[in-house]
Amino acid sequence: MAGRIPQSFIDELIARTDIVEVVGSRVQLKKAGREWKACCPFHSEKTPSFWVSPDKQFYHCFGCGAHGTALGFLMEHDKLPFPDAVDELAGRLGLEVPREDDGRGPRERPGEDLYELLGQVTQYYRDCLRDAPRARDYLRRRGLTTETCVKFGIGYAPDAWDSVLRRFGGSPEKVQRLLEAGLVIERSGGRDAGHYDRFRDRVMFPIRDLRGRTIAFGGRIIDAGEPKYLNSPETPLFHKGRELYGLYEARQSLRSIDRLLVVEGYMDVVRLAQSGIAYSVATLGTATTPEHLNRLFRVCGEVVFCFDGDRAGRSAAWRALENSLAHAREGRQLRFLFLPEGQDPDSLVGGEGAEAFEARIAGAMPLSEYLVGELTAQVDLSSVDGRAKLAELARPLAQRVPEGVYRELLLERLAQDVRMPAGRLAQLLGLDEGQSPAPAPRDARRPMSAGRRPLLTQAILLVLHYPAAAKTVTDLAPLAALPIKGVEVLVELLRSAQAEPDLTTARLVERWRDRPEGGRLLELAGAESLVTDAAGAARELRTAVGKLISEHGPERRLDELIARSREHKLTAEEQQEFQALLKRRATPGRPPDSA
Ligand code: UTP
Ligand code: MN
Repeated sequence: MAGRIPQSFIDELIARTDIVEVVGSRVQLKKAGREWKACCPFHSEKTPSFWVSPDKQFYHCFGCGAHGTALGFLMEHDKLPFPDAVDELAGRLGLEVPREDDGRGPRERPGEDLYELLGQVTQYYRDCLRDAPRARDYLRRRGLTTETCVKFGIGYAPDAWDSVLRRFGGSPEKVQRLLEAGLVIERSGGRDAGHYDRFRDRVMFPIRDLRGRTIAFGGRIIDAGEPKYLNSPETPLFHKGRELYGLYEARQSLRSIDRLLVVEGYMDVVRLAQSGIAYSVATLGTATTPEHLNRLFRVCGEVVFCFDGDRAGRSAAWRALENSLAHAREGRQLRFLFLPEGQDPDSLVGGEGAEAFEARIAGAMPLSEYLVGELTAQVDLSSVDGRAKLAELARPLAQRVPEGVYRELLLERLAQDVRMPAGRLAQLLGLDEGQSPAPAPRDARRPMSAGRRPLLTQAILLVLHYPAAAKTVTDLAPLAALPIKGVEVLVELLRSAQAEPDLTTARLVERWRDRPEGGRLLELAGAESLVTDAAGAARELRTAVGKLISEHGPERRLDELIARSREHKLTAEEQQEFQALLKRRATPGRPPDSA
């Protein structure tokens, strides 16, 4: 596995990223004073309560309480795991993500040499294709030109058990890397029994990431045989449910991608591209996952799913519809194209040409029409019962669609068939105004009320929101000496903020991500504060720190111990403490615990 990403790199990333840009590329932001606002992407609403602050580099929704940094936003919005969100931000800035040594040898960036290895093997397979007349002949019969093969990096894996193994597996470590890259398989009997090439005598399609690096392969058998396609297993670089074959190549061919056509197979993508339809991608034989949809809509606002007309194709289409509902909204187009039985995009575009195929795309069925059509086919619309059943069938589906114009249109469309006013139907489906069905209420994340908070919490919140106010606390020693749980967090925050005058909220919070207090700090950074400017924050912070010291400092404790000694004899420990406090008072400037 990959080593840790150094904290200093995360810090640099947050410092150099503009959250407004990151959020703005996914959500339509409107300028509002110094900040930006939008309808919240995490819950459905019609009036904006989602704010992005360029000063704090932080976002916050007053409606559902969602909040965080640019990294947090990517994780939540794009559903990315932490390392991928880091990758995404780094990619925007053209930075490589460094990895700390994970104690497994000299490799500094474990992912790095897997990429390199896969790149070398891609080249090797391409070289092999040159010397493989049978494979070249097969590709020609499939209608592919040399140019297309070059563009997609298509190659050939020789008909042997050890061609990759011999060439790239010169040492046990190298064999281990081949294994990690999914290129060789361990013989049953374990490591000592040896390894063999996964791909043999197959036409090889490299699967590339957005930067064009090979992360996996699909290999097609030449002519007939089982399995027809063999794919790389899941590896540290390859997660089948997320990848879209052909996206890199589409990006290379088109200046801007306005529409993506989602097809099923490698050959479909390659053949469509060769015919001039460069905007197709394939889901590698898996169902369309929510991750796929996130990726697709990150690229453009129009997605057309293309399915075979057979039963398998229809059921795959319905699954894609179910997963798409949560992504349906104004400004996005989701459509479904069904091909004649027995045909796929490869065969069709080869037969009828690009123009005819594009006409099919133009006539693809909107999601709402497909949904309503499928449901009405299951009921008898002429009977009251049938119409009630339709409403019943529609309920779980319509509930997945985020509240908004799109859902209203869908309801209106359904209402016609159910012969009922749309408002009444909405009520029946539990979708009436204000009753947002989609995300579960995020109680845990509701903004904390701006009311009374413990002093320490107030102080921490102020530093988080206005790091620049930290310089108002000139002497940290008395604060650090207070016997309050958590005071060390405040002190550390103050130190960081004082050391770097232009630290943002986001950077402060990200530095604590992996620490036990990180979650709480994130929450406070997202909480409302009544202070609206740095000067006000500095005043409040000074007051809060002053109060903390007077309420918990040595004088206060002395008073407490004196009061207690009147009621009962002090314990040995208390007596010791009492002595220490008195002594410290006599020699000011020394922290009490060193006395
Ligand atoms: P298809 O069976 O529709 O193949 O599988 P195809 O794309 O039309 O291939 P050709 O035209 O016969 O060469 C669609 C996709 O499903 C995955 C592959 O990604 C394939 O492109 N698949 C299919 C596999 O992973 N393994 C298989 O054995 C079959
Ligand atoms: Mn095919």
